[in-house]
Amino acid sequence: MNRYGVVTFDGPAASGKSSVAQRVAQVVDLPVVSSGLLYRAATLVAERASIDVDDAAAVMAVLAGHHVDLDPAPGGNRVTIDGDEVTEALHTDEVDALVSAVARHDAVRDWVGERLRSIRPPFVIDGRDMGSVVFPDATHKFYLTASPEVRALRRVGERAADLERVAAAIRRRDALDAKQLRPASDAVRIDTDALSLDEVVTVVLDRLRGTPTVGSVGRDG
Ligand code: C5P
Repeated sequence: MNRYGVVTFDGPAASGKSSVAQRVAQVVDLPVVSSGLLYRAATLVAERASIDVDDAAAVMAVLAGHHVDLDPAPGGNRVTIDGDEVTEALHTDEVDALVSAVARHDAVRDWVGERLRSIRPPFVIDGRDMGSVVFPDATHKFYLTASPEVRALRRVGERAADLERVAAAIRRRDALDAKQLRPASDAVRIDTDALSLDEVVTVVLDRLRGTPTVGSVGRDG
């Protein structure tokens, strides 16, 4: 029996939360769930239906007509829409550009929250408001931050694109995501600007294993 319940990692786009969540999950032998995939899947459904993503009722109506499923498989999360695997189609520039508008709607957030709460713990999960809104009783909560410049550099490493364009897209997404980016007051905050992925993972594992570290880690920690 694993001694962890729900372990949450929240933070802005490209703050490293999903890489850290994956590595930590592997070490503590838990499945990892990427909550952003459900927002991306909702966006893909809306995009395919060519509806106005600012219209919450239209988004919910089109979502009601499809069965969206997230499988936290050990080899990586798989998302299906009506049984068809769409995981690869969720990380396109088109979905990136529309997802914040879809994620702003309270009804969409409830739709995602419901799906996430139906996954049986224990698991590690990353998102924007996992520790504050969806899983307020999580056993361990982490909030990762990094400057827009550092996050843009990390993203450029993942996708072939030029730095300035990526930095601008990240700033735009930060502004659009501001409402949903809600750090839990009891989360351990880690500023990852000056830390490698391994170093962040070590800080997190120390915390999980009960080794005392300061409440805020990184540049100001
Ligand atoms: O984490 P990822 O970049 O895949 O998330 C895509 C988008 O989904 C975010 O930019 C944000 O708009 C939304 N999101 C959210 N709440 C979450 C996870 C993602 O609003 N818990």
